[in-house]
Amino acid sequence: MVQLISADQYGVIGDPISHSQSPSIHKLFAQQLGHSIDYKAYHVSENQLESFIYEFRKKGGRGLNITLPHKTTALKYVDIINPRAKEADAINTLIIDEEKIIGDNTDGIGLINDLEINFNQSLKNKRILILGAGGATLGILSPLLKREPKNILVANRTASKAKIVTSKFKSNFSLDACGINELDPEQIFDIIINATSIGITKQSINFPSFVITENTVCYDLSYSYEPTLFMRWSIENKAKLAIQGWGMLIEQAAASYCLWRDKKPNTSSILKQLNINASSQVLRRL
Ligand code: ATR
Repeated sequence: MVQLISADQYGVIGDPISHSQSPSIHKLFAQQLGHSIDYKAYHVSENQLESFIYEFRKKGGRGLNITLPHKTTALKYVDIINPRAKEADAINTLIIDEEKIIGDNTDGIGLINDLEINFNQSLKNKRILILGAGGATLGILSPLLKREPKNILVANRTASKAKIVTSKFKSNFSLDACGINELDPEQIFDIIINATSIGITKQSINFPSFVITENTVCYDLSYSYEPTLFMRWSIENKAKLAIQGWGMLIEQAAASYCLWRDKKPNTSSILKQLNINASSQVLRRL
């Protein structure tokens, strides 16, 4: 017998927001689990953020996803910050009830689940290069370190920013920082993650191609309906595999859904249901 649950209110807030796939993804999760939920995208500017969150709670809202540019600012409006969000200094999920608002961050676990479960890439003992040192890097560093890679190097256009970001993480593993122009041609990486904003701002690639070997797996945190520039660049430079961040988007959504409703959706069919072409999500070297 299908259990009838009243339609709890959820949503995603950001500025801009029209591009968001979250309503479609959460609708598919709810259908799959037989839940009745209402999930909408809300355009919320910086100066509306506080009042929106409190109004949403007053109207019975149970959970929000937070996207750019509010991931750090929204920290101010939560009562409890879960450790993952604290480490990332950013939140992408609010769990709301009458008494409190809890902030969490599922971005990192989204990436890990995509790499480990969907692409069968173990991270233990791997040599990882992260390009970029902005908010996206902050969100993924701690979960990656917990997987016990051999080392992680954060290389950023502005070297000083990479050093500030890595200095926040105390780790037993080797975590280093440098400028992109200081990368060593002798150093080899198993996994390269593009966490820069070049995909969003449509800039050309100026990373040195020597970081890629024939065994390197490249992962772009950005996503698009076509293979991204970083994916094409990776394969042109003979990477084994180049993946874009659709899986991470779906996995972080599933982790948020689970925080809200204590049920983990099955993510395996969602890409197809969103009509995302598998051949543009992943490129393999021929
Ligand atoms: P996000 O929160 O999405 O990470 P961000 O905080 O603005 O966005 O960070 C953008 C990242 O992309 C930064 O690491 C930035 O490098 P700088 O710190 O030197 O600005 C990086 N970035 C942006 N454009 C780039 C480019 N053309 N080449 C290399 N890195 C670039």
